[in-house]
Amino acid sequence: MQLPKHVRLVEVGPRDGLQNESTPVSAETKIELINRLSDAGIVNIESSSFVSPKWVPQMGDAKSVFSGITYKEGVTYSALTPNMRGLEGAIESDVKEVAVFVAATDEFNQKNLNRTTKDCMAQIEPVVVAALEQGIKVRSYVSCIMGCPYAGDVNPAQVAALAKELVDLGCYEVSLGDTIGKGTPLLAQTVFEETAKLVPINQLAAHFHDTYGQALANLLAVLQLGVSVIDSSVAGLGGCPYAKGASGNVATEDVLYMLKGLNIETGIDLPKVIAAGNFITEHLGRANTSKIALAGFSG
Ligand code: HMG
Ligand code: MG
Repeated sequence: MQLPKHVRLVEVGPRDGLQNESTPVSAETKIELINRLSDAGIVNIESSSFVSPKWVPQMGDAKSVFSGITYKEGVTYSALTPNMRGLEGAIESDVKEVAVFVAATDEFNQKNLNRTTKDCMAQIEPVVVAALEQGIKVRSYVSCIMGCPYAGDVNPAQVAALAKELVDLGCYEVSLGDTIGKGTPLLAQTVFEETAKLVPINQLAAHFHDTYGQALANLLAVLQLGVSVIDSSVAGLGGCPYAKGASGNVATEDVLYMLKGLNIETGIDLPKVIAAGNFITEHLGRANTSKIALAGFSG
């Protein structure tokens, strides 16, 4: 089995995880979570979103979060920015990396961004251009890659075409999101193979939600294609506010456990991540949904 030797893990729990939590979480708690994650050795942390607080109230404190982080050298603390207003917020908070996002279907884009896919791309373009002019790195997402809650099946060629457009605009990486977590391993390979015809595989990341319990299997499937960047969420937090029923991203703890067993290095301290997961789920008043945390793994 051909696998990468090293995986770069992008922790999205503070953003993708918490954005869907209805229990209010204070900026102070979010900051402590982010600090604990960096202390565990995670070097990419998507920390918040500069989006409309009417649409995603939990992310309304992005400015406070970014002003309170204990910044650690070598760690990238990124933010989601859907439009110019979002980018302006990120610049004011001195954010060094932003992420833009678009779904593979018009139906999802209408719900999530109030626009068609074409109009989303038109909105993204000036954000990417302006961010790059300011020396801010831009990551990107294509979501609903293996199914859309409103349109059903998704054509892999559409995912590939959008990923190419994003890279052509200047995004350094495209994270392919199974937003509703319905995908299975063969489909995951098909979508990544199709996309890799247009975008080098080392510019693709896997962002799998675990709604149907398929995320680890799907990750193993795409690792075998050479994918070496994985998004995950501590304690399996979250979901997407515009994908009803979608559960959180695959849990960071479970991904780390699997990667260790595959002899793939990450440089991350798993027990510290479990402790961070327990910290945030205690604040949310519920259990850590990571399987290995639930099983009592202690290192
Ligand atoms: P809109 O209604 O089309 O925009 O929303 P608008 O320009 O008409 O503005 C509406 C209001 O929002 C105005 O305020 C704006 O000022 C304000 P009002 O005049 O009504 O008081 N506004 C903003 N406020 C703060 N920050 C901003 C901002 N922009 C406008 N940046 C908009 C367009 C993009 C704002 C809206 O659709 C939005 O915020 N959507 C949120 C989308 C979101 O965060 N979704 C979840 C993240 S995506 C995801 O989870 C998937 C992913 O994880 C990958 C995967 O899983 O596959 C990435
Ligand atoms: Mg997501």
